[in-house]
Amino acid sequence: MTAASPGQDIRRLLVARALTAPSPLNVQPWMVRFPAPGRIDLFIDPDRILPALDPYFRQILIAHGAFLENLDIAARDQGFRTDIAVFPSGWPGVRLDLTDPIARIDLVEDNTVENDPLGAALSLRCTSRRPYRDSGISPGALTQLSDAYDQCFIPMGVLSDPGSRSTIASFLEQATVIEFAGEERFRELLSFMPVTRNEHRRDGYGLSHLGLSPPSRFFARLRMALLPEERRDAFLKETLIKLARQQAATAAAYGWITTTGNLRVEQLNAGRAFERVALTAASLGLSLQPMNQILSDCPGIEDIRQEFSGFLGIKETRTIQMFFRIGYAAQVPRTSRRPVEDIIR
Ligand SMILES: Cc1cc2nc3c(=O)[nH]c(=O)nc-3n(C[C@H](O)[C@H](O)[C@H](O)COP(=O)(O)O)c2cc1C
Repeated sequence: MTAASPGQDIRRLLVARALTAPSPLNVQPWMVRFPAPGRIDLFIDPDRILPALDPYFRQILIAHGAFLENLDIAARDQGFRTDIAVFPSGWPGVRLDLTDPIARIDLVEDNTVENDPLGAALSLRCTSRRPYRDSGISPGALTQLSDAYDQCFIPMGVLSDPGSRSTIASFLEQATVIEFAGEERFRELLSFMPVTRNEHRRDGYGLSHLGLSPPSRFFARLRMALLPEERRDAFLKETLIKLARQQAATAAAYGWITTTGNLRVEQLNAGRAFERVALTAASLGLSLQPMNQILSDCPGIEDIRQEFSGFLGIKETRTIQMFFRIGYAAQVPRTSRRPVEDIIR
């Protein structure tokens, strides 16, 4: 637990801890304002959205849910209760007005508030794209993952049958091919994946986070340096598609979180639930990787998704908000975050 120093605005500390949340492509789409003492308003940063890959902001809202969950856990650590009002300016429709806050958080000092044991995992959780070892996860650990949050409205499904790996890998490979077939989508992906430029960035992620082994990473860097510029993207696309298949095929288990419909509040709550599962996995020494290409809203994926839902036994009417693989793997480097000052406006 990190303690606030005397005179420090507790909100800065809490926001810094909330920022460790996952977000698609590590875009870090959060923006906060401090409109009154003890109050935090959370917004979507309009400059950090993914119009091609996430045109309806579904994934962005999941990231906001994860941020809220982290904030709540971090606040408990400091003896604060969070009173969270989601969409305080009114319930959004299908169109989201980005000038309205997603949530208003009032911090209330409360000495009866209980610490959340997941607080210690905030600094441990990260996405691992490495191949996972072929060792099963104990039923006890799987139960702990399912018990990470209240399953009542947002159930989590788990599949740990090794026989399903190649079918799931094939679904995810097909979805990745379709997702990357859109030039705009692939460009957007590359804008947060600076693998061909030697840039130091505090968002996105690069070659060292893709899950390649050190020799493959060396080879990929070399190929990219030697290939003419116009052929580099094709090589990268091929590598990412191959990786998606390998990653999906080396899971010890798969998990998914579904909601009854696809309301904004359901997307936020799914993000909160997912973050609790991811933090629990981290605290158990398990690696986890969201594999959401099959949940993409791009044309052509809908049919594969329906087949995929059928394969997993998910009712057609439900929305899969997150799909992820779980297993044991070597440690991976953590992705960077922007400084907290960048997200406070
Ligand atoms: C809604 C959402 C969708 C994501 N989809 C994918 C995905 O399809 N593939 C993947 O490798 N990581 C995915 N991620 C993980 C992010 O890329 C990751 O959280 C981000 O790069 C920050 O890194 P970290 O999780 O290690 O902190 C997703 C995360 C979120 C919140």
